[in-house]
Amino acid sequence: MSPISVAASQPDVGVLLPAAGQGERAGSGLPKQFRPIAGVPMLLRAIRPFAAHPRVRAIVAALPADAAHAAPTWLAPLLGERLRVVPGGSTRAASVRAALAALDPACTIVLVHDAARPFVEREEIDAVIAAAEQGTGAVAAVPVSDTLKRSADGRRVSGTEPRAGLWRALTPQGFPRRLLEDAYRAAGDLDATDDAALVEAAGGVVVLVPGRTTNIKVTTPDDFAVAEALATT
Ligand code: CTP
Ligand code: MG
Repeated sequence: MSPISVAASQPDVGVLLPAAGQGERAGSGLPKQFRPIAGVPMLLRAIRPFAAHPRVRAIVAALPADAAHAAPTWLAPLLGERLRVVPGGSTRAASVRAALAALDPACTIVLVHDAARPFVEREEIDAVIAAAEQGTGAVAAVPVSDTLKRSADGRRVSGTEPRAGLWRALTPQGFPRRLLEDAYRAAGDLDATDDAALVEAAGGVVVLVPGRTTNIKVTTPDDFAVAEALATT
C-alpha cells in the first residue's frame, strides 16, 4: 500500500454534537434530546450514524452541565476515548465552542450536527465530508418548497416572496478545522443558529450539499409526532 492511501484511510473527522439546550419550544419534561423516539433517545439516534462511520475519529457531545457530570444510563456505557461529553454553554454557539475545544487535535475535518436531528443519514454525512475536504464549509440543505409569505403581525399578508434560490440549512455542516476555529474566534460571544453563518461572516466560502427532507429538526411537540412516524416507517 502506498503511503498516500495509508494516510487517506486514517479516521480524521471529528464530530461535535450540540445537545445542551433546554428544549423550551418542545414543552416541559425531560430536555427533548433525551426523550425517546420509538423507544430510542433522540441524542442516541443522532450519534449512531456518526459512531458507525469509518472516517469518524472522535465525537464530542455538549450536554447540560448536570448530564455531562452524570451521563444518562443509556449513554454512560458508550463513553470513552472516541465518544466524550463536555458541559455545554448558555447558547448553541457556546456549546459548539466547548465541544470544539475538547476535540482530538488529530481531527482535521470537523462536522457539527444538532442532537435535535435524529434522522441524519449516511449519504448526508458522506456528502458533507466530501465537500469539506475540498477546503470549504459545507451545509446539508434542501430547497424551499413552500410559497413564502411576508407578514409583520403574523396575520395580514403584505407580500409573497420569491423562493427561487432559497435553501433550508440543516445539519450536518462540515468544515476544515482551521476554518471553523477561525470563524468562532472572530465571532467572539456572538450566537448563531448555525455554524456556517459564522464562517460566512468571517469571509469563508460555504457550499450546499444535498440533504434529506426527512432530516427534520425536532423543535415542537408536533415534531415529536412526526418523529415517531418517521422512526416507525
Ligand atoms: N443547543 C446547545 N446549547 C444551547 C442551546 C442549544 O447545545 N445552549 C443545542 C440543542 O440541544 C439542539 C441544537 O443546539 O441540539 C439546536 O437547538 P434548538 O433546536 O434550538 O434546541 P433548544 O435550544 O434546546 O430548543 P429551544 O430553542 O426550543 O429551547
Ligand atoms: Mg434553541
